Amino acid sequence: VFDINQLYKQTGAFTFDPGYTSTASCESKITFIDGDEGMLLHRGYPIDELADNGDFLEVCYLLLYGELPTKAEKADFDYRVTNHTMVHEQMNRFFTGFRRDAHPMAVMCGVVGAMSAFYHDSTDITDPRQRMIASLRMIAKMPTIAAMAYKYHIGQPFVYPKNDLDYASNFLRMCFSVPCEAYEVNTVLARAMDKIFILHADHEQNASTSTVRLAGSSGANPFACIAAGIACLWGPAHGGANEAALNMLAEIGTVDRIPEFIDRAKDKNDPFRLMGFGHRVYKNYDPRAKIMQKTCHEVLKEVGNEDDELLNVALELEKIALTDEYFIEKKLYPNVDFYSGITLKALGFPQEMFTVLFAVARTVGWIAQWKEMIEDPNQRIGRPRQLYTGAEKREFVPIDRRG
Ligand code: ACO
Repeated sequence: VFDINQLYKQTGAFTFDPGYTSTASCESKITFIDGDEGMLLHRGYPIDELADNGDFLEVCYLLLYGELPTKAEKADFDYRVTNHTMVHEQMNRFFTGFRRDAHPMAVMCGVVGAMSAFYHDSTDITDPRQRMIASLRMIAKMPTIAAMAYKYHIGQPFVYPKNDLDYASNFLRMCFSVPCEAYEVNTVLARAMDKIFILHADHEQNASTSTVRLAGSSGANPFACIAAGIACLWGPAHGGANEAALNMLAEIGTVDRIPEFIDRAKDKNDPFRLMGFGHRVYKNYDPRAKIMQKTCHEVLKEVGNEDDELLNVALELEKIALTDEYFIEKKLYPNVDFYSGITLKALGFPQEMFTVLFAVARTVGWIAQWKEMIEDPNQRIGRPRQLYTGAEKREFVPIDRRG
């Protein structure tokens, strides 16, 4: 049996890898990233081909089952997801326990964590049928819960799902329609929303996915595991980066101020970083950023805001950074978050919803990775080791003798 303490004692060798930059925690067949080439594949299919030709539920099917669906399989899958979009009526009352101005991410953490109390008939992880029902429930209900968190946050009544609409259109309607006013889904914006969901569907062992796997490795139920993933995603270095990128573009404000911010990003004495630039794995252009840039243009054109100043700042910033020695040498390219903030703003979402939207999209990645782990015969509880740097063994001193 491999014992790292013994190995350490005998040889002085120890795997110490802060941030897990070069430690694989699992085997996976779901997503492949070649960071040097700027390549992202789901089950072997390039992300740009999936985003251009598929829809989000098709990608969900691919991630869960490993193959693209036939027409009949797709129709059946859409039907099964659609039939799970409603949440239990008692969950409405759960929402109303939060402060009226609660942050939607805080509400997401609580409500998704509570799902196992409402749907405990799909928490037996040893039953493959229950695992699949839980997976479909998560994918189907997440947009409903997210839209409810948003409506609650802005003090509007909940809008129930309308299941003859596609996934993205249904979500936009639940967020933006108001009682007594007709709401027509804009197909260009719905397609853009769908693409944004596809681009965020999975990204192998990022922090939140690793959190879901680690939580699940103890046998915790899938709803609890996804709630753990949501908590992890909330951080500004992960799901919150698009909000930070949008704030930065607003702070720069005009194209003429870009050089000042480029200089700040290069200054080692200034903690400022170009948000939406750089990635732990991509040392080339993030392939999702290219699609997001195109989607951003489409959305701004559709909402009649093609001359958006933030977009002009973003395009110029990208141009300057990509020709700057510092960014070339450190291989810092725009990541998916660089253009997603502007796009989501143009779609009508306030900044506090950005990470929530990311959670809706990533739910399929989390659940597919969780299922793959549970179904792996070599699965063991995750238990990282540590390099202890504290005090050596010492004797307890009673309190009246401590000076
Ligand atoms: N602006 C300026 N310099 C940067 C930036 C940046 N955005 N990113 C990295 N650098 C520099 C660092 O200062 C460091 O320089 P040094 O070698 O002289 O010390 C070098 O590049 C390497 O940076 P690390 O932080 O060590 O790289 P790491 O892989 O740990 O970090 C990260 C990746 C966190 C994404 C980083 O690039 C960053 O902070 N970017 C801005 C935030 C952001 O956009 N996050 C979104 C990530 S994508 C996602 O979650 C969907």
